[in-house]
This record gives sequence, structure tokens and C-alpha cells, in this order.
Amino acid sequence: MARNLFDPVNKALRRVPTWSVYLLGLLPLGWISYETLTGRIGVDPVRGIEWSLGLWALRWLLASLAVTPLRWIGLNLIRFRRQIGLVAFGLVLLHFASWLTIDMGLRWGQILADLYKRWYILIGMSALILLLPLALTSNAAAIRLLGSQAWSRLHKLVYPAAILAVLHYSMVGKVYTTEMLTYAAILAGLLGWRLVKLGPKRLVLA
Ligand code: HEM
Repeated sequence: MARNLFDPVNKALRRVPTWSVYLLGLLPLGWISYETLTGRIGVDPVRGIEWSLGLWALRWLLASLAVTPLRWIGLNLIRFRRQIGLVAFGLVLLHFASWLTIDMGLRWGQILADLYKRWYILIGMSALILLLPLALTSNAAAIRLLGSQAWSRLHKLVYPAAILAVLHYSMVGKVYTTEMLTYAAILAGLLGWRLVKLGPKRLVLA
């Protein structure tokens, strides 16, 4: 087999247990807790926690989408893909839970009003709903039950989910910051690369 630049890294990664991704996923939580306890999270800690969880969720979601393109250039992280996706989903759930609890205080009337009033929340919610079947089927039993082709097709829901997530982010601030545009560009790059390499038909159906 032809050698590539990443061979030593791939070899070393084969010895890394897949559960270590979950440990890595705990780091943002440690960081957010540290920033909260030391008062560095911002003048509005509720918003700071909510925003940090949202940003980390987006970063992990984009990381899960980067696994296949990285494989094309020789870096093999396929073994860790399921764990990366699950960490992303866990962070989305925590972001959602932070809105429901520390922001809305579980006041259901206000929650419904917020959903109706702020469109970006509905869009974030749609992303979460699209990710739900992916998280529920990220196990060997579900792959066996669905068959690998149906399973891969189902997991293409991650594309619209990621697009909705970036749209949600872009609507929160109402201004296009460099950070927001960077995430949008990374997503466009990752999806565009797939489109060019696989073609529209395989991108959606394969
Ligand atoms: C894939 C799903 C989601 C992702 C990746 C995501 C990501 C983000 C990001 C990056 C931000 C802005 C952070 C910043 O500006 O620094 C944000 C803000 C926010 N998100 Fe999400 N989000 C998702 C789903 C949701 C859901 C399901 C809800 C609630 C139903 C939600 C509610 C909010 C709220 C309330 C804010 C803050 C808005 C404000 O400051 O007024 N998000 N989210």
C-alpha cells in the first residue's frame, strides 16, 4: 500500500482507545466550569454558559463532518467518528438544557413564547431534532437492524442539521462576526469538498 504523510500518526492512533474521545469531550465542560467559577465567563454568566456550550457543540459537529475528508487526504479517524458525533450531540443537548433551565427557568409559557418570537430557536430546535435519530442509531445493534446502506443514508441528516446549526448561529448575533463567518466557511468547505468528490447523486444517496 502507498505510504502517506499521516502513516505514523495513523499507526499511533490505532493504539488510542475510542473512549478517549469522551474524555476529550469533557474538556469543554471543565473549561466552562472553570470560567464560570472564576467569573471569566462574561458579565452575563447564563448567556456565557449557553453560548460556550453552543459553540463547542458546533465545533464538534464540524469535527464529525471533517472525518471523511481527512480520510481522503490520508488521516484516518474513522474509528473515532461515532464517539465524535455523540460528543457533539451531548453538547447540543446540554446547550438546549441550559436554555430550558438556567435561561428560561423551565417557565413553559415563556419557553413557548420564545420559540414563537425568536426564529433562530426554532431553527436550532430543528437541528437538534435532525440529530436525534443519528444519536439513537449510533450503536452496532442499530446498524445491524437497519442495514449499512439505510444506516448511511439516515446519517446524511447530519448535513441539513449542520447547515441549520450554522444558520441558527448566524441569526443569534444579527451581525456577521469573523468567528461566525469562519464556521460558515468551514462548513461550506467540508460540504463543497464532498459534493465535488462524490457528485450530487452519491452525496445524497450513497
Ligand atoms: C445543532 C444544534 C445547535 C447548535 C450547534 C447551536 C449553536 C449555537 C451557537 C454557536 C450559539 C451562539 C454562540 C455565540 O454567539 O457565541 C447559540 C446560541 C443560542 N442557542 Fe443554539 N445551537 C443549537 C441548538 C439550539 C437549540 C435546540 C436551542 C433551544 C431550543 C438553542 C438556543 C440558543 C439560544 C437561546 C442561544 C443564545 C441566544 C442569545 O444570546 O440570545 N440552540 N447556539
